[in-house]
Amino acid sequence: MARIRAISLGDLVQDQAVRVELEGVPIAVVLDSNGEVHAIGDTCSHGQISLSEGFVEGDTLECWAHGSAFSLRTGIPQNLPAYEPVPVFVVEIDGDDVYIDPTVTKEIAA
Ligand code: FES
Repeated sequence: MARIRAISLGDLVQDQAVRVELEGVPIAVVLDSNGEVHAIGDTCSHGQISLSEGFVEGDTLECWAHGSAFSLRTGIPQNLPAYEPVPVFVVEIDGDDVYIDPTVTKEIAA
């Protein structure tokens, strides 16, 4: 795994998304209300909108443009108009550092 240090845990705010770009891949990093860190593709599958500018609602990240909410666990939109998932990346925490491999997406069981 070619993991890259993406951000410090201390730079994440609960229930807010932060955009990082790793090797040209835009990724939304979210610390959820359970203290779990998620990393999903930052570009909405419905339009060229940055999901990290949207809203964390439970375990979803909602696009501000038209309201599709993407699962932080599967990347699957929970409502229209988006119908294509965004990628979900493996996150590793090492001390205060959050590592993500932008080249490897999580295998999601349907
Ligand atoms: S651009 Fe995100 S739901 Fe339309």
